[in-house]
This record gives sequence, structure tokens and C-alpha cells, in this order.
Amino acid sequence: MTPRDLWQRYKTLLLDEPSLGVRLDLSRMGFGEELFRERQALVERAFAAMAALERGEIANPDEKRMVGHYWLRAPEKAPTPEIAAAIRATLERVRDFARRVHDGRVKPPGAERFRHLLVIGIGGSALGPQLVADALSSSADRLQPHFLDNTDPDGIDRVLSRLGGALGETLAIVISKSGGTPETRNGMLEAAAAYKSHDLELGPHALAITQEGSALDRLALEQRFLERFPMWDWVGGRTSVTSAVGLVPAALQGIDVARFLAGAAAMDDVTRRPDARRNPATLLALAWHAAGEGRGSKAMVVLPYKDRLLLFSRYLQQLVMESLGKEKDLEGRVVHQGLAVYGNKGSTDQHAYVQQLRDGSADFFVTFVRVLRDREGPSLEVEKGATSGDFLDGLLLGTRRALHESGRPSLTLTLPDVSARSLGMLIALYERAVGLYASFIGINAYHQPGVEAGKKAAASVLDLQRKVLAALVERGARGGTCEELAEAAGAPDEAETVFHVLERLAANPERDIGRRPGPTPFAAIYSFDRH
Ligand code: PA5
Repeated sequence: MTPRDLWQRYKTLLLDEPSLGVRLDLSRMGFGEELFRERQALVERAFAAMAALERGEIANPDEKRMVGHYWLRAPEKAPTPEIAAAIRATLERVRDFARRVHDGRVKPPGAERFRHLLVIGIGGSALGPQLVADALSSSADRLQPHFLDNTDPDGIDRVLSRLGGALGETLAIVISKSGGTPETRNGMLEAAAAYKSHDLELGPHALAITQEGSALDRLALEQRFLERFPMWDWVGGRTSVTSAVGLVPAALQGIDVARFLAGAAAMDDVTRRPDARRNPATLLALAWHAAGEGRGSKAMVVLPYKDRLLLFSRYLQQLVMESLGKEKDLEGRVVHQGLAVYGNKGSTDQHAYVQQLRDGSADFFVTFVRVLRDREGPSLEVEKGATSGDFLDGLLLGTRRALHESGRPSLTLTLPDVSARSLGMLIALYERAVGLYASFIGINAYHQPGVEAGKKAAASVLDLQRKVLAALVERGARGGTCEELAEAAGAPDEAETVFHVLERLAANPERDIGRRPGPTPFAAIYSFDRH
């Protein structure tokens, strides 16, 4: 194709949405008009399913739940007046609470005001708030956000030690829809112990965002948390960033949540358009479908050329892979669907894996995210007539061209800036695209049976560990090998898991598990050695 043909193709395939300042370019994806013709029936089916979802039909059949994240930014579209009222009232409470924290009416017992946020959550209860906090942070932030999003003891120590003496001015936000996720529960208990070590109580320094009646909700009530905000049954974790989950930390940080919601609502309006060519979410879903032949055979590499969007690929990885990575379709047939997502940011990644994208295996397509606004204020000329921003954009356009020349597909999404409004638009765009793509491939995007299975497996390992520890105590100094201890714990088939558990316990001296080496790693003798 000559450069002139390519320019023509660009003009034909570009979606320009002046009302949002957004452009979507599919000209380097390697398909043409047939994309729309061949997939017309899929698009119609996806639109019917999306309309039913927005009407409040059960769109998550396994969990028998409605799926209502679109109502969060357009309460008038909620299926009942009660839901609409709950959304509006919660938003008002969020903004009121943030105002009262900012002006010091809500304050910690031993300090003048809250200056830090410690957000405790995982998965959908952390990634959205992390993305928003990082993308929109500024020197004007009212509270500084910090996150505990794992049960890694050393990771927890790192965050808590950074807060150190400021714990008395730190507001902990515990987020868990189910209210029973172990990582979040552990993070909260570790935070409570840290407050205690400074003679402080968690309750007057904390708020909870969870489903009414959950274990977390009950604990928040008992321990007199400052506030409890709802997580509704009909909002899924990974689509909860426009609920209290995302809004509470954002409003406290000082982010304009009204603009964030308005951006999402404006994108929702555009992505409800039935005309696929004028709907950026349909175009994205079609592009993914064509690139990966409806089986996710090509990974989506997400390359935002903007440091503020660094966490976007991680956020998208969860949104896409937890939603689309499914064993069975809606009919119960085994399909093993999915769409792998990875990425970081440009141009940094050009000095990392982009080498393979250009010259190595062709198992991906790239999503470039281009942001037009360079920075607030003027830029230095780093070379005659060129700024750092010119270099960044030049590197993006150059990589896009280089990939095209080596036959690697890419699409480019252009945003005006990184602001509360455009971040709301970006998130809403991908939420809709994931929902439409799920309909194309006939799967339920709104459940996560694999995550639940992982939680059960972890619980059974911990149960086995308890039994092994009891067996070690009973055997005293005599101890035993991993096989003997698996037998003694009543789980002779679990010798390998017992081996892994004992090796780690023995590597942590404060756990009081001694290890005498044997002729092979598997013949080591473990014993309970109270120091
Ligand atoms: O998107 C999801 O549903 C999950 O990633 C959840 O958000 C995650 O497992 C955390 O669950 P919870 O909010 O119940 O603690």
C-alpha cells in the first residue's frame, strides 16, 4: 500500500468524536469493510444483550445478578426509583464526607486533620482507585493516597513504614464488596496493629466500602468506623470505579468526581449508538475479534505514551482478562476463551520489549494511547524547535509506522488530555467494549469462577498447614519428614504441599520450626523448636 493509499484508508476508517475530543484509528489493523459486513449479526446480538443489561435484566446468570455500572453515571436510567435514589444519595454522601474531611470537621482524634489515605483492597476493589489516584495526582492533592493491595507482609511493612509517624493523620479506607476477602482482611488487621502500636484505634481512623451486612460491614459498625458506604449487589468489582469504591478515595484526594462521572456518562452516550462505525466501543470490540479470530489468539499490548496512564494497562489487564477469560460459554460449552493483555508505557517500553514486537513473534496487536496535551504550561526546547513532548509523540508515531512496516497490527486511541473527564471516558469506553466483546463470543463477562476457585484452594492449603503444625507440636523434638508429617496430618497424598509449607516456615525463624538437613531436600527433618 502506498503512503497515499494508507492516508486514504486512515481517513475512511477514522472515528472522530469531536464532542469528546476522542479519535480511534483502525487503519493499521489489517481489515476493511468486510469487518462490518461479516460481523453484523454479532453486533446486533451484542446490542440486544447490552440493552437488556441496561434495562436491569439478569445479565450475570451464574450469580443471578443485574449488572448496573452504567446507572452509576446516569441514575435516571436505573431500572427502579429505589436504585436511582440510592445512587444519588450515595454520591451526595461521598461529596459531603470529603468536604467535611477537607475542612477538618471530620478529623482524627489526636490530630488536626487527615492528610493521608490508606486504601486497603484488592482486584476490582483496588485497581480502579489506584489508576485514578495515580493518573490524576497533583501537587494540590488534599490527602496523599497509599495502597495495601496484597497480603505480602514485607509489602505491608513498606507502605506502613512510609506512613510511619503520619499514621495519626491517616484515614484508612477498607474496600471489599464481599467483605470477606482474606488479603483485604489481613491488610486491615495489619493496619489496625500498626495504629495500635502508636496507641491509636482503627475505628476513628477508618471507613468501609462494602455490601450491607457483610463481615466487614458488621466489623465497621462494631468498631465505630467513621463511615460506611455501600457496594451494591449489581456492581461488579472490576466495574466499580464509578461507585463509592472509586469515588470515595478520589473525592478525598481532591479529584473532581463530578467531571469523572460526566466523562464516563458522555462516553456511555456515544457507546450506546447502534451504528458500529460511529461507536468507538463497538469498533474496539470488532477490532479485538478480528485480530484474535474470536479466540483471543493475539495478545493486546497496551502502550499509553503518558506516564500518568502507567497503571492503565494493569487496570485493563484485570478488566479484560477477568471478564473474558472463561472456561465455558453461556450455553455451558467448554470454550476456554480469553484475551491476554499486557503493557506498561511508551516510550519506556521501546527500550524493553518493543524490540520483540517489531522483529519477533507476531502474536499480538498494539493499542497506542496518544494524549495530545503535553503538560500544563510551556515546554523547554530540548533541541532546536523540539520539546520533550515532541520527542514522545515522534516516538509513538515512529513506532506505529515501524510496526506497520513489519506487518504488526496496531490501533491508536487519541485523547485530548489526562483529566478527570477524559479518564472517566477512557474507563467507560473499555467497560463497554469488554461487554460487547463478551456477547460476540457468547460468554458471561460478569462472574469470576476462577478467582473463587483460587480462594478455595488457598483456604485448603492453610487448613493443611494448621494440621501439620498440630502434628509437629505433638511429635515434639522428634519431628518428622514432610512425608511423615503429611501422614500424621491425615493427608498422605499432600506430601508435596506439606514440603512447600514446611520449607517456608523453616525459613522464618520466628515461626519456631527447626530443619535438620537430610541426604536429599525431601529427607529433611522438621521439628517444633520453641525459642
Ligand atoms: O472484579 C472482581 O470481582 C474481583 O477482582 C474482586 O474485586 C476481588 O476479588 C476483590 O473482591 P472483594 O471486593 O469482594 O474483596
